[in-house]
Amino acid sequence: MLKDCNCGALSRERVGEKVTLAGWVHRRRDHGGMVFIDLRDRDGITQVVFNPRISREAYDVATSLRNEYVVQVIGEVVLRPAGTENLKLSTGEIEVTAVKAVVLNESLTPPFYINEDVEVEESLYLKNRYLYLRRPRMKDNLILRHRITKFMSDFLDAQGFIQVETPLLIKSTPEGARDYLVPSRVNQGKFYALPQSPQQLKQLLMVAGIEKYFQIARCFRDEDLRADRQPEFTQLDLEMSFVEEDDILGLMEKLLVALVREVKPEMEIVTPIPRLSYEEAMKRYGTDKPDIRFGLEIRDISDIASEVQFGIFRSAVAEGGNVKGICLPGCAGFNHHRIADLTEVAKNSGAQGLVTVALTGENLSSNEVKSVIAKHLTPAEMERILSRCGARPGDLVLIVADQPPVVNRAMDELRRYVAPLLNLIDKNLLNFVFVIDFPLLKRNSEENSWECMHHPFTAPRERDISLLDTDPGKVGGRHFDVVCNGCELGSGSIRIHTHQLQEKIFSLLGYSKEDMFERFGTLLEAMRYGAPPHGGIALGIDRLVMMIAGAETIREIIAFPKNQNAVDTMFDAPSYVSESQLDELNLRLKRAVFGDS
Ligand code: AMO
Repeated sequence: MLKDCNCGALSRERVGEKVTLAGWVHRRRDHGGMVFIDLRDRDGITQVVFNPRISREAYDVATSLRNEYVVQVIGEVVLRPAGTENLKLSTGEIEVTAVKAVVLNESLTPPFYINEDVEVEESLYLKNRYLYLRRPRMKDNLILRHRITKFMSDFLDAQGFIQVETPLLIKSTPEGARDYLVPSRVNQGKFYALPQSPQQLKQLLMVAGIEKYFQIARCFRDEDLRADRQPEFTQLDLEMSFVEEDDILGLMEKLLVALVREVKPEMEIVTPIPRLSYEEAMKRYGTDKPDIRFGLEIRDISDIASEVQFGIFRSAVAEGGNVKGICLPGCAGFNHHRIADLTEVAKNSGAQGLVTVALTGENLSSNEVKSVIAKHLTPAEMERILSRCGARPGDLVLIVADQPPVVNRAMDELRRYVAPLLNLIDKNLLNFVFVIDFPLLKRNSEENSWECMHHPFTAPRERDISLLDTDPGKVGGRHFDVVCNGCELGSGSIRIHTHQLQEKIFSLLGYSKEDMFERFGTLLEAMRYGAPPHGGIALGIDRLVMMIAGAETIREIIAFPKNQNAVDTMFDAPSYVSESQLDELNLRLKRAVFGDS
């Protein structure tokens, strides 16, 4: 090794030792005839002092050093002079007096600061990712990610799970997004799909008798990207035989609690992890991935609104919609800019507008509130609405009237927008919640068909099976989600394990016999050979690490992420390929795109 000690490992206990360090010049200062270098390696930072009176030769090397040069230093660990300690640094009580220094490599001036965590334009930090990853915060994120996946593997190993790798070149498995396709050279005209998840493969492993499987699995989905979505991402994927919902949720709870205590003990989690039915989540929070770190719960005022003189409320209810409100405590004084912002949030989520009621007076009656609806409502009606919303003098009530999905979306967005504004979020809290009791299917009214809430392999609730023929919309699914701080972290279900039921569900989803055997024949066939009852779940590792790291986007916790257009700007992928490569695959582009700018 070119070093015998890491830069973060030195403390006053090591004073007097001779050490060899190697790393990058984090910062250089010239001071009173001496040169001070903060030497950085993966482990931390040590201050190295180059004093010409101790080693002229080392001092001369130090004067030539620039930020990000790679250097090896031999020297002695000494205590820093009294008053010059840096208590923010773990090595802040000591420094190394250099007797020898060797430049191992020079560096160009990086395009952004590495020693200061200041904002950098995205295109710049993605293109120069290997430099951005040198920033201590980014390196810490990668280390945290490593510790999380290692903990998961060890934990599951101890519970009797075995890791099995599944192929990346497979046949398309539907998870709701588009597939990434890979053309086959050997089998011309045919394509593999990259897995959106190993769903069918893990079910086949259950048929194979593996009983407890897990994998840190790469998944690929061609979908619109957001702050918590990447085209390729990683799941902790697992599947178990002979289980019911509680077995999987119980395992998840044990894993998540132990994991957070191990890797981020300073973060709080609420235990036992609360469970919320889908219906209750929608009712109280307008979404199946609620952020329950704060209140601001939604109140349904449709019954009252249907009777008032205000046309928008009445007609919304008459047309099958509803009217719902949330109360912002102490916000009656919001100025018109703030109100305009809130209205914008509601409109961006599809609502026609936002009604606000500011309780500027001492009472809940209409002559003591500021609102466009005040003159249309009797004092008693106003009072009923406000008390239903839990409002008190000084509060502001936000009301949206529209079709249920629009109202829910608007309420959800308003809650998410307002909570940080009102400082209602405890940054140290990881508020996990299990959302359970989902319906099995949802109606696609445009296509006049049924769609799965989760995926087509999810089992219906036993007692609802007869409803599949009569009222499919009422059938409960054995599906559950893990949600944390308003983000969907994972999804799972108890699966269908008989081919009869699986075929029935495929038919309900509109597959002909031929289609279902063409697409899912292997699984359907396997189910005829004694498939055990089974179920499983997949946790999005990127999202989990993002939450534990307190990062804003999953790009911060992935070593080499893609940008919003799914482009790897560092390697410039995707890229055009040569005519001869296309020829080998027997492919031709429909439209000439070469040379596009
Ligand atoms: P699902 O599709 O819900 O379920 O995915 C599980 C979890 O994977 C994460 N995830 C993503 N993370 C980053 N970028 C993406 N584009 C992305 N898409 C999904 C989320 C999500 O909750 N096979 C089933 C699981 C099962 O039933 O066992 C599945 O993949 O955190």
